[in-house]
Amino acid sequence: MIERIEQLDQQAQASLAAVKNAAELEAFRIAYLGTKGALKELMTLLKDVPREQKPAFGQKANDLRQKVEAAFEACKTQLDGGSAGAKKKASTLDVTEPGLAPRLGRAHVITQSIDELLEVFGRMGFDVATGPEIEDDYHNFVALNIPQQHPARDPLDNFYVSEQELMRSQTSTVQIRVMEKTQPPIRIVATGRVYRPDEHDATHFSMFHQIEGLYVDKNVSMVDLKSTLLQFAKAFFGEDAEVKLFPSYFPFTEPSAEMYVKMKVRGEDKWIEIGGCGMVDPNVFKAVGYDPEVWTGFAFGLGIERLAMRKYGIEDIRWLFENDVRFLRQF
Ligand code: DAH
Repeated sequence: MIERIEQLDQQAQASLAAVKNAAELEAFRIAYLGTKGALKELMTLLKDVPREQKPAFGQKANDLRQKVEAAFEACKTQLDGGSAGAKKKASTLDVTEPGLAPRLGRAHVITQSIDELLEVFGRMGFDVATGPEIEDDYHNFVALNIPQQHPARDPLDNFYVSEQELMRSQTSTVQIRVMEKTQPPIRIVATGRVYRPDEHDATHFSMFHQIEGLYVDKNVSMVDLKSTLLQFAKAFFGEDAEVKLFPSYFPFTEPSAEMYVKMKVRGEDKWIEIGGCGMVDPNVFKAVGYDPEVWTGFAFGLGIERLAMRKYGIEDIRWLFENDVRFLRQF
């Protein structure tokens, strides 16, 4: 019986020596000192001890209990002291050392581009307008002189959400919404998301952003359009930007043109289309109740991702939407 006490003594010492943290210490306490712990159990053996040995057994068991309790307390103090020690160490930190700056979030490069575009056009006197992303057939097509049978309305080329509504495929919708509410002269830009079920590649994505411009007044000419876009390109890309207009066709402008900017794609100089523009078609003026004999205007719609790609040398549109902070942090 006495051997059992010695055995327990050794076991307790070994277990305590292995304790590394507060959780392990608590496990030790439960195993040895707890109400169902090994030392309590020892006392239940007392009844089986031969009578003459009882006092000695009791004494030894009590001694062991005190010894284990003392060792437990010592270990506890040491563990607590451990973190106090660490605190002490931290307080010796050299406060004159340069600190680690917290990592700050930042606006996405597209948001930054939008801010800058609005600022550039703002300096040229353009106000900011907005319109809904879910549009009706009338504002996305009909009022923009896009007839019922036009291929641009194909369900395969648009995200329809119902028979009459779709995720807008162009920000030209905002031209109509502004003209419906306002009388000329008008000078606005509108930025926002547009949606097209394009297959994703380096220059196409099914959601992207456009900036739309509309200028309506008396005697507005193609020269005004060209000089506005050239001035914009120099302000946004830099004085050395090379842009050109190329004749094209859009139902809502006549004449129409595509705007190109020279940019490096995989090390090679290329003319990349960044949007369309033209003189507002008389049918669009009629749709919003303006007299086309009195009013003239120009409009343009540019792809913001492409503008940002040219400005920042981004070679793949998909990088803009992967949310990889290693990429985004560069801007
Ligand atoms: N909405 C056209 C597109 O998304 C771009 C465009 C062309 C806008 C000519 C215009 C414009 O305002 O006049 O492809």
